[in-house]
Amino acid sequence: MTATLYARLGGYDALAMFATNVVSLAQKDHLLGRFWANRSEDRNARDLQLLIDFFVRETGGQMYYKGRDMALAHAGMGITEDDWTRFMDIVLGVAGEMGVGAAEGGEVMSFLESLKTDIVSA
Ligand code: HEM
Repeated sequence: MTATLYARLGGYDALAMFATNVVSLAQKDHLLGRFWANRSEDRNARDLQLLIDFFVRETGGQMYYKGRDMALAHAGMGITEDDWTRFMDIVLGVAGEMGVGAAEGGEVMSFLESLKTDIVSA
C-alpha cells in the first residue's frame, strides 16, 4: 500500500512548516499582502492553524477540520488569477527550499489546482 501524501511529505511538522512559510511570505508579499491588512496576530494565528488542519486532513493525516469550505472561506475577497499565480509561485518556492520531491510536489500542486475554482473569484 502506498503511504499517504501526508506521510510522504514528512508528517505534521513538515506540513505545518510548509503552511507557515507559505502564509508568512504571502502576508508580506506586495501583491497578496492586501488580503491580510489590518488583521490581528491572533486572527492570523487561528487562520494559519485552520490551514494546517485542512492540509493535514486533505493529504491523509488524522485531523478534524473545523473551518469553512474553500468557497465560503474565500467568497467576496476578490482573489484574481494574478493573485493565484503569485500564490502558487510562493508554494513552489517553499516546496523547493524544503526539498519536496518531484512526485510529492506534483501531487500538492494538483491538489491546490483542484481548489482554484472555489478560491479565485475575480
Ligand atoms: C491567492 C490565494 C489565497 C489567498 C489570497 C487566501 C487568503 C485567505 C484569507 C485572507 C483567509 C482568511 C479568511 C477570513 O477572513 O476569514 C483565508 C482563509 C483560509 N484559507 Fe485561503 N487564501 C488563498 C488560497 C488558499 C488555498 C490554496 C488554500 C488551501 C490549501 C486555502 C485555505 C484556507 C483555509 C483553510 C482558510 C480558513 C478557513 C476558515 O476560516 O474557516 N487558501 N484565506
